[in-house]
Amino acid sequence: MGRRRPRLPRLLERSRRLILGHNHPAIVAAITEQTRRGLHYGACHELEVRWAELVRACVPGAEKVRFTMTGTETTALAVRVARAATGRSKIVKLEGHFHGVHDALVAAVKDPFEIPMSAGVPTETLASTLVARHNDLAHVKALLDEHEVAAVILEPAGGRSMTAPTSPAFLRALRELTRARSVVLIFDEVVTGFRMAPGGAQEYFGVTADLACLAKAVAGGLPGAALTGRADLLDTIAFAGDSKRDRTRRVADQGTYSAAPIVAAAGVAALEILKTGEVQRELNRKGDRLRAGMNQVLKTRGVPGTVYGASSIFRIFLGADAATLGLDDGTMDVARLDRGMGPLGAKLHLAMLLHGVDYNRGSANGWLNAAMTDADIDAMVDAFDRSLDRLRQERALP
Ligand SMILES: Cc1ncc(COP(=O)(O)O)c(C=O)c1O
Repeated sequence: MGRRRPRLPRLLERSRRLILGHNHPAIVAAITEQTRRGLHYGACHELEVRWAELVRACVPGAEKVRFTMTGTETTALAVRVARAATGRSKIVKLEGHFHGVHDALVAAVKDPFEIPMSAGVPTETLASTLVARHNDLAHVKALLDEHEVAAVILEPAGGRSMTAPTSPAFLRALRELTRARSVVLIFDEVVTGFRMAPGGAQEYFGVTADLACLAKAVAGGLPGAALTGRADLLDTIAFAGDSKRDRTRRVADQGTYSAAPIVAAAGVAALEILKTGEVQRELNRKGDRLRAGMNQVLKTRGVPGTVYGASSIFRIFLGADAATLGLDDGTMDVARLDRGMGPLGAKLHLAMLLHGVDYNRGSANGWLNAAMTDADIDAMVDAFDRSLDRLRQERALP
């Protein structure tokens, strides 16, 4: 007797980078076509220009665009540009916010926030990174009063992809504060860019940063990313034709594969679809449907917990409701949210897998994509219901 093949999860929620799904025909066609024309020209090409035009058309404040390969590279470049433009060295980041794994920003990502998320980073380097409490404008203000700060960087919708959501009032006030102090405001829109709206969280919340870091959706699922924002800031990277300035004051940035033709082809194909906002409107509606459905399950079953988030991003927390967690009024305990559900989180994820649904186990959040139908959303709600039932039978629920 042959071994039974394991049943694969029907819904894969690990689609942060794939807002259009795993093999959207327009993206596959664009890549296939480009592979016939050439993989790498070692020079600029037309697709790169079209790609930048689309970014500029969608993203608020995108006066210029610089293509890179990854989110990590992009936030590192943003920090360097801000330092070069202001002549200051300190960077403020927020507790619980993730910006990739380069040295400057590995501080205070995960609870306990005193310990950087990576070993091997000199304390001297981390001394330039100041950490502000999430949603706490007075704390940011105090840091700006005390130090020569080049930039404030944050995930505009909330740390670790909305594990701790940002209050829109905080965002607006932060914009005013940084503008008044000539501190560069950097939005890390690696996840939210083109997802919450064609103009990302900037459009969604109506707040425009000085620099925005884009990755994932911007390149249609291929390794591509971009830094965009104010022209005077992006111009620190450009050659001015003045050899002294170019040698001593220019921000160095280059990458063999940045905006490689197949990546640009995928990016153009993706943004041609995403620019209308239709995909995002549908996904945002489905996000509401999913969160409402899962919260109704919690209520019906009398399980303390909440499924929160915004747009097409969701996060599951069992053990306390939204008010207790301070999600309703922005007074949240970021460390508690960051720790999540502990061993119960792993059990819930396993139960959901058994019912055909996968999502990001570690942080218990997920991202919808355009291939998902309303029936898929309802199947996820149903899987959640069955999973809670299973956990209750195992006496695993709080
Ligand atoms: C908000 C945010 N910033 C930066 C990054 C790093 O991007 P990459 O993995 O492309 O380096 C990620 C990755 O998930 C992210 O979620």
